[in-house]
Amino acid sequence: MPESTQMFKPHFHEEARPLAYYQAKMNGYTALKKALGMTPDAIIDEMKKSNMRGRGGAGFPTGVKWGFIPKQSAKPKYLVCNADESEPGTFKDRDIMRYTPHLLIEGMLIGAHAIGSSTGYIYIRGEYTREAKLLNQAIDEAYAAGLLGKNILGTGFNFDLTVHRGAGAYICGEETALLNSLEGKRGEPRVKPPFPAQSGAYAGPTIVNNVETLAAVPMIINNGGEWFAKLGKLEKSGGTRLLSVSGHVKNPGVYEIPAGSMTIREIVYNLCGGVLGDKKLKAVIPGGSSAPVLTADEIDVIYDIEPLMKIGSMMGSAALMVVSEDYCVVKLIKRITKFYEHESCGQCTPCREGCKWMEDILHRIEDGHGREQDLSLLLDIADNINGKTLCALGDAAAGPVTSFVKKFRADFEAHIRGGKCPNA
Ligand SMILES: Cc1cc2nc3c(=O)[nH]c(=O)nc-3n(C[C@H](O)[C@H](O)[C@H](O)COP(=O)(O)O)c2cc1C
Repeated sequence: MPESTQMFKPHFHEEARPLAYYQAKMNGYTALKKALGMTPDAIIDEMKKSNMRGRGGAGFPTGVKWGFIPKQSAKPKYLVCNADESEPGTFKDRDIMRYTPHLLIEGMLIGAHAIGSSTGYIYIRGEYTREAKLLNQAIDEAYAAGLLGKNILGTGFNFDLTVHRGAGAYICGEETALLNSLEGKRGEPRVKPPFPAQSGAYAGPTIVNNVETLAAVPMIINNGGEWFAKLGKLEKSGGTRLLSVSGHVKNPGVYEIPAGSMTIREIVYNLCGGVLGDKKLKAVIPGGSSAPVLTADEIDVIYDIEPLMKIGSMMGSAALMVVSEDYCVVKLIKRITKFYEHESCGQCTPCREGCKWMEDILHRIEDGHGREQDLSLLLDIADNINGKTLCALGDAAAGPVTSFVKKFRADFEAHIRGGKCPNA
């Protein structure tokens, strides 16, 4: 496997790999050369064959998404990289931008050629100041080497790329809120349809893809879609997955594994060294804080999109948060809900009001002032948010509350009956 696909726990480089290193040691920009000799349709076909499913959270097949872009368009087409990475627990995209920014730039160049775009943006979360700087340095290097700008590699292909920094709002990771923010508008999700592929940035056909999705494109083009598909162990999920592992685990960090190759138990105990202090495992949040929680009895599931969906959770952004036996799950879900309450853009009433109500109720339960009926009230409010908002932030807030209350009901009841946290 090329360097970038080996299973690894990265060591920390002081600097991002410069263009010279990327070209000399990582086959840098060879995929771009190959792609510029291919037709856009041939590139999209390879992407379809690769079984690459978007790494931003929803797992939508990338080749299929690219195929939605109309061939002819009166308006310019855009390729936008979603580098907002604001889902709590997720920090994998940061490593790509920090260590191999050229991999992302090359992936974007190939994507732009495939969809017929000559303008791209990387929308990066405001807190990633260092990564924004490293990306800009890499972009400058690419311009100087004739890899960005006009008539790239003498082929007549033009592509300009700009880094746009966000201002710290989780909602701006949602692709249509991101596009509004990029256009200088308030970061609120748009009504869909139209989807961005029909009308996105500045009302032009637009593809929004996650950093990890785009960074995989050079590998797919160099080695072929089938090669990438076979890296994955399940039928529908190709390639490798970057996991962000955090919480009460001995070796937290970013790991790369072939898609569908391990259970959560293997990830926690074999890959990451087990629970901190050799304590018992209480829970795992498997896909960023918006994924419904799993109990310690549910971790023999294969870590991939379909197996997790089958047991009522999701892989999301592939961020696993490990919770040990002595951590209060009521406190944890209160903290998570506070995040969604704070980050709700306020556009949809169920999300704006419901998140606040859930937070208030969780707060009083944690404080020891909860009432028996609060648990059914929480489930009822969550049910009135789920699926009833313009974007999935509402679902992201509701799903965890429902799962925590259902799976850890005894912990909530102990708080209510005892008038305090039993561990306090
Ligand atoms: C509230 C919310 C926040 C999101 N945040 C991110 C994010 O930080 N990064 C990301 O890539 N996708 C995020 N998404 C998903 C994007 O809307 C979109 O599906 C994704 O960027 C598509 O890229 P992909 O096809 O490569 O997965 C978020 C979605 C929602 C509803």
